[in-house]
Formats: sequence, structure tokens, C-alpha cells
Amino acid sequence: MHNGTVRVCVVGSGGREAALADVLGRDATEVLVSPGNPLIEGSVDIPPEDLDADLFVIGPEAPLVDGLADRLRAEGQLVFGPGVDGAQLEGSKAYMKGLLAEAGVPTARYGTFTEAAPARAFLDTMAPPFVIKTDGLAAGKGVLVTDDLAEARNTVDDYLSGRAFGDAGQTLVIEEGLVGSEVSVFAVCDGRRGVLLSPAQDFKRIGDGDTGPNTGGMGAYSPAPVVTPDVHARAMREIILPTVRGMEKDGIPFTGFLYAGLMIDPKGQIKTLEFNCRMGDPETQPILMRLKSDLLDVLAAAIDGKLDQIELQWDRRTALGVVMAAHGYPEAPRKGDAINGLPQDADDAMVFHAGTVLDEAGVL
Ligand code: AMP
Ligand code: GLY
Repeated sequence: MHNGTVRVCVVGSGGREAALADVLGRDATEVLVSPGNPLIEGSVDIPPEDLDADLFVIGPEAPLVDGLADRLRAEGQLVFGPGVDGAQLEGSKAYMKGLLAEAGVPTARYGTFTEAAPARAFLDTMAPPFVIKTDGLAAGKGVLVTDDLAEARNTVDDYLSGRAFGDAGQTLVIEEGLVGSEVSVFAVCDGRRGVLLSPAQDFKRIGDGDTGPNTGGMGAYSPAPVVTPDVHARAMREIILPTVRGMEKDGIPFTGFLYAGLMIDPKGQIKTLEFNCRMGDPETQPILMRLKSDLLDVLAAAIDGKLDQIELQWDRRTALGVVMAAHGYPEAPRKGDAINGLPQDADDAMVFHAGTVLDEAGVL
């Protein structure tokens, strides 16, 4: 892909996509970001289906679950990101749990329900903590973890009636609550193999000292010492590889970023909490700042099914990303405040925009 000019299109508009665009821009001739943001270089207000590029990289889960990768491939474009079937790994917990059971990948005991009576009967066989999830995407809010059986029962009713999350909740998954320490592991997959990215840890609570309500993530650093080399290697061997092989066997080769949310229990056993069919945001930002290899080559090798020829090189220094959010975030972010004093990008410091606008008053 490197001979001649290479135009890449990154789909999305957040900090993750800004970082992807920046790092891909080191080796691509041109990077477009659709829709991007006026402060992300290369942003174009043109839908990806109307663009022509040598490679499309889709950042967020929504367009993946919605089949954008399939639509682009049908037009003959090269795409890094799973099609609608592969995106089910994130888009349907029921699919994900079924695949893991079939592939023998460790995860919490579970049941899938569309009716209240069997769901309540299953709950009665479980011990707290009770975990109830919507089958479909619910903007990260469709998971209840509680020790209170009455709350669990009420939640079952709210989800199944469609009151809580509409259609996304009308199939639900009830699972055993796992305890231990939660870590995330990221890989680039080529349909049959995966290459691990250097680990990162994000922090989701809004307040200093890891306090207050959850957000999409207030910051992240890489590498993350909680993901020891042993945990990292076992996550690949015990979780990621068997999952990717299981999907290949089902005729759903997974080409894209795979994000595994894992729980390590006090005995050291690793179980799968969740999969995402995309990179984490804000983990992408510090991880990619440390990548010394050519990301364009890596993604092209994944699309060609040749990840066995790739070995990633990392900067040994630690990268730290901090999210500067608007006052009132996450419940009621205040809009329109000017952002002053943003530093210039430098070799060792970058600013990535998400949800910002540029107007005559400056950056808002
Ligand atoms: P999910 O959307 O499946 O990632 O779940 C969101 C969060 O809920 C996870 O990051 C965990 O903190 C928590 N969670 C999910 N499943 C379980 C489980 N089986 N046991 C304990 N906590 C869980
Ligand atoms: N940082 C968590 C996520 O991207 O889902």
C-alpha cells in the first residue's frame, strides 16, 4: 500500500479518531476524517459512502454495528473494521455469550431471556452480585450490577417491557457477578490471528481520586502495569485467539480492533466480561502515541490476513492522556465555554479534540 500515494479515511469524530488520524498521517499521503470535527485536521462533511480512499478505518461501534464496513466493502473499498456480523460481538451480548460458550472461552455463567417468568426463575438460582444487561447497545448504560434481588427483579421487568432501553432491552442477559480486578486488553485482528497492542488502563469516574459518577473515561495511561506480561499473554491465548478462531469457524472472520474487558479473580483466573469491536476511547490516544511501527502497514497486513509478518515496536516511555471535560459533564455538560491556553502540539504533547467547535470567539 506504500508505493505511491495513500489516502486514508477515518470514520468518527472523537478523540480516538483524532489520534488515529494523527498517527496514520505519519505515513499516509492524505487523511480524511468523516465527519470529524472542525478542529481535527482533514475533517470533511461528506459521508464515508461518498468518499473514495485506499483504506477506511472505522472508529466507533455504532457505524460498525450498523453495517458501514459491509456497505463500503460492497463498493470495493478496503476497510479495517468488522462487518455487521462480526460487530455482533459488541452489538449483541447474547451472540457474544453464545460464541464464547461454543469456543470454550471463560466467561460468567449466564442465561438469555425475552420473558419475565424464566428470567426471574433464573435470578432465583443465582447468588449476589446480580448482573443484568441489555442484549443490544445502550450507550454504555445497559448494565446493572446489584446485590439487591428486588432491584434485579424490577430491572428485568423494566428492560423486558421496553420501558428502560426500548428494543435494545427486550432481550436481556442475566449473568453471574464476577469479582476481582478489571483490566482491558486490545488487539489488532486479521480474521484468524491477533497482535496485542501495548496495554492501557482507563479511569471512568469523573472526580479526582477515582470518585463520583462514571463517564466514558476521564483519562488513560499506557503501558499499564496492572496488565502484567503474564496476563497479557494469557489474555491472547485463553480469550482473544479462541474467540477469533470461533468466529472464523462460524464464517465470520473478524478484521478490526478487538477490545476485551476481562476480570482477573483472586485465584488468577481470567474471565471475559465484554468484547468491543473497536478501540477504547480514551485508551487509543496514549497507546498510539507510543506506537513506533507504521500503523498503516499494520492495518494493511490485517486486511491481507498477514499479521504473522508484523511485530509491533513501542516507545518505552509512558504516555498519559487526560480528558478536559466541560463543567457539568457527564450529566449536563455546559456548552459554549471558551477553551483558552491550549498548548501547541509537540513531539511529547498532543491535543486531540472531541465535541469542540471553532467560532470567532475561539475554541468552544
Ligand atoms: P459491559 O457493558 O458488559 O462491559 O459491562 C460494563 C461494566 O459492568 C463492566 O466494565 C464491569 O465493570 C461491569 N460488569 C459487567 N459484567 C459483569 C459481571 N459479570 N460481573 C461483575 N461486573 C460486571
Ligand atoms: N474507555 C472505554 C471504552 O472505550 O469503552
